[in-house]
Amino acid sequence: MDKIIITGGEPLKGSVRISGAKNSALPIMAATLLAEGTSVISNIPHLRDVETMAAILRALGAKVRFSGDSRVSVNPGKLIQPLVPYDLVRTMRASICVLGPLLAKLGSVKVAHPGGCVIGPRPIDLHLKGLRKLGAKIEIEHGYIVAEAKARLKGSEIYLGGSFGSSVLGTANVMMAATLAKGRTVIEGAACEPEIVDLANFLNKMGAKVKGGGTHILQIQGVKKLEPAEHAIIPDRIEAGTYMVAGAITGGEVRLKGARFEHLQAVVDKLEEAGLIVNRTKEGIKVHLRAKLKAVDITTLPYPGFPTDMQAQMMVLMSISEGIGVIIERIYPDRFMHVSELLRMGANIMREGPRAIVKGGAKLSGAPVMASDLRASAALVLAGLVAEGETEISRVYHLDRGYERIEEKFSKLGARIRRVEE
Ligand code: EPU
Repeated sequence: MDKIIITGGEPLKGSVRISGAKNSALPIMAATLLAEGTSVISNIPHLRDVETMAAILRALGAKVRFSGDSRVSVNPGKLIQPLVPYDLVRTMRASICVLGPLLAKLGSVKVAHPGGCVIGPRPIDLHLKGLRKLGAKIEIEHGYIVAEAKARLKGSEIYLGGSFGSSVLGTANVMMAATLAKGRTVIEGAACEPEIVDLANFLNKMGAKVKGGGTHILQIQGVKKLEPAEHAIIPDRIEAGTYMVAGAITGGEVRLKGARFEHLQAVVDKLEEAGLIVNRTKEGIKVHLRAKLKAVDITTLPYPGFPTDMQAQMMVLMSISEGIGVIIERIYPDRFMHVSELLRMGANIMREGPRAIVKGGAKLSGAPVMASDLRASAALVLAGLVAEGETEISRVYHLDRGYERIEEKFSKLGARIRRVEE
């Protein structure tokens, strides 16, 4: 297993190209199953999760071909095997987003139930509720979701809000299934994330009739057939946010090529409050530190609120800022695995239920730490960049799930970071 070793203390300077968004690429790859023929998706990031999605599509019988640096073509052909085994699902929860397309296209599908994960319980009740409203019969049998639709799915009015707000992949699954349903579907309480808009745009290129992407109400007029399409994935707002925080905490100046300012308003707002100057530039976004970092409070919320996927990274910034900041995690109340590792590096954090109180002013020092999930691992990299001495991060396969060539990108910005094979 690889390790990442960082020697902290270098201010990051220069520019970094932001890759395509993982959380757009995965459902869009699943959506290619809806068409007859070959769809071509570009700006696909090189990530382990993308490889897992390709493995799933291949296991179903689709032809998947990567070409060039960031392009994938998918031809579902004759889907021979409407079954996604647990071995694939347990390595990537987003496997669940083939459920909607397969049900709509084939009328029956069996996908392993993803269960929870290290960031807490991750129910799928909203996915199932929405698909049942479209006419599917769904049972949980021996750890599998077994879904069937005897006739074509039927458009319906569906409320998809849950106790923690809207569901991103729940919205994606129901929206994809509804594109081939008979008649009109209205999804209320839909997720508004940019990745949902990207998916809706791709579906419309395929001939679907989806309106309202980016709002809480989606209207989908079902069509009989979808055509293959070409599409470029939007830039990854969480990768961009992570590099913005890196620039801030190291007192550097970082330019993010391709980043979309409008997808990052909540993050920009907090970084400005913390003392950063964030500029929209022709090529993307530029960040640099104005004065000393000040503590901020954050509450994670569905888009356009502050993203839970940036919570761990912000905790590092708050650890070295002046003052006390509070984090309230409203999406995944248990998403705090990074706390104990940051404590080992000298941070001063108290967790109480879904809240963390971060006493700033810590002088972080390098230590051997363990990555536990994707964003927690990103936080450890950030902590390593400002810590005194050497930080050794093990289990970096978590990072490889969602950050393309992370050590290469940080090295280019001047960080002393390397990957070693154990
Ligand atoms: N929820 C339910 N019922 C459901 C589905 C979700 O109660 O049926 C709850 C969840 O427990 C959570 C909240 O609703 O409290 C939001 O979960 P959501 O369904 O939106 O999460 P997701 O779609 O499974 C995506 C991203 C996550 C990101 C969340 C929230 C992908 C592949 N994953 O997950 O990304 O944290 O939305 O924004 O799009 C990551 O990239 O590191 C990551 C975990």
